[in-house]
Amino acid sequence: MKKMLLLLAAITIAILSTACSGSKEDIISASEWEEEHPEIYASYLENSEMEETTYGGSVPIDYLEKYPYLKVLYEGNSFSVEYLRARGHTYALEDIIHTERSKPGASCLSCKTSGFLELVEEHGEEAHAMVFEDVDKSEMETISCYDCHKNEPGVITITREHLNTALEGIEGEFKDGDLVCAQCHVEYHLDPETKEVIMPSVNGLTPAEMMAFYDEVNYTDWVHPSSGAELLKVQHPEWETYQGSIHNNMGVTCITCHMPDMEGADGETLPAHQWTSPLKTIEASCLGCHQDYTAESLTKRVEDLQGAVEEKMNETALLIVDLIDALKNAESDGITEDKIVEARQLHR
Ligand code: HEC
Ligand code: HEC
Ligand code: HEC
Ligand code: HEC
Repeated sequence: MKKMLLLLAAITIAILSTACSGSKEDIISASEWEEEHPEIYASYLENSEMEETTYGGSVPIDYLEKYPYLKVLYEGNSFSVEYLRARGHTYALEDIIHTERSKPGASCLSCKTSGFLELVEEHGEEAHAMVFEDVDKSEMETISCYDCHKNEPGVITITREHLNTALEGIEGEFKDGDLVCAQCHVEYHLDPETKEVIMPSVNGLTPAEMMAFYDEVNYTDWVHPSSGAELLKVQHPEWETYQGSIHNNMGVTCITCHMPDMEGADGETLPAHQWTSPLKTIEASCLGCHQDYTAESLTKRVEDLQGAVEEKMNETALLIVDLIDALKNAESDGITEDKIVEARQLHR
């Protein structure tokens, strides 16, 4: 009798779960591909390694400590509470769960796990604004094969609707080797009401064009408490800032440098699946083209450029700190309202 009941229960559960799944596609997890794609899976697991380079790499150093002016620039924004350097894709889900920054909605999961795609399938548009803490994340997997391939490893598929929506409005031809990363490595904001991820790219991909979009829709991330300016917090526009660069103009894509060739067990060529600093794989990533260089001399060329950029960044940041200071005291210093409004606009 007990056995009969158990059997009945098992059948009922089986029927119920097929009924619920409907046309829904189950997400095949990374580890389930290990047998079919052992080298790529092993390479994927290397995203857990943490190794630093001079200016980059995957060690989550504290930017607020490294660049103390950030606390002033981000005052009133939760990036002044916690801002760590990014690390590998295998940490994405746990890092969003544990961050001390505020999480305005479940859409914060959208670039950390394909579990979010299931959530949208289940709850529709409501999914974006669900309370982050209320969403059950125990069955979700960090960024994995499904995010770029769905259930067909090797086929590049854009799974993030916010990118497809943005692409409808942008002129130009874009390559899969860039778009696959542009699903997440882009500037975006959350719709104030629906909390949906929206890319500000309808006018184009330059900072001025994106700024024009934000002005048109009257969007502000936060008001700086000391300067009173209505500010935008730029996220991670790797795709946008790459446009028009030397390599982009030559047709080189993100994956040329970030997914260089590696050798499979049978001597075949496979794309590496560790997304990290290409300076760690400089021979495979760069020297095929840069034949006049050695690993050392090309690394030095990169670091010289990075050093110059960092210096400019620091100088600019300190000028903005001065501006914030000036605006903080503007009224008591007798500055006219017109001038204050203009300076706030410049701060924006
Ligand atoms: C010409 C080669 C090249 C191309 C193409 C390229 N990158 Fe990079 N990327 C680099 C190098 C070099 C660094 C600096 C790494 C360092 O400082 O250790 C870097 C850094 C990064 C970082 C920060 C990683 C870190 O370790 O700090 C991200 C994220 C990134 N790239 C994403 C992208 C995306 C997305 C694209 C395409 C839109 C792209 N890259 C195109 C070479 C490239
Ligand atoms: C961040 C996006 C991304 C993720 C995540 C990802 N891949 Fe890929 N994968 C790519 C891209 C891009 C290519 C094409 C590379 C090229 O054309 O050089 C590729 C190529 C492949 C190929 C074809 C290899 C060949 O013979 O050319 C296989 C197989 C593959 N991936 C399997 C996987 C598996 C298994 C996982 C999960 C463990 C995975 N991928 C995760 C982006 C991704
Ligand atoms: C589904 C969203 C998503 C996609 C697609 C994606 N990334 Fe990322 N990437 C992230 C997130 C989130 C992080 C930060 C994870 C963390 O810090 O916990 C990250 C981190 C990185 C880093 C920093 C890690 C390190 O070791 O320096 C690099 C480099 C990078 N991604 C490159 C790429 C490239 C190249 C592609 C395209 C082939 C790509 N990513 C596609 C979301 C994504
Ligand atoms: C498909 C070929 C190709 C690949 C791959 C490639 N480059 Fe280049 N790169 C070029 C060419 C061509 C130029 C322009 C001529 C020059 O400056 O040498 C260039 C320019 C540069 C410059 C000068 C940019 C500037 O603004 O002054 C740097 C630095 C550089 N590459 C670094 C790298 C690094 C690092 C990698 C690998 C992560 C890499 N490149 C991969 C072809 C390539």
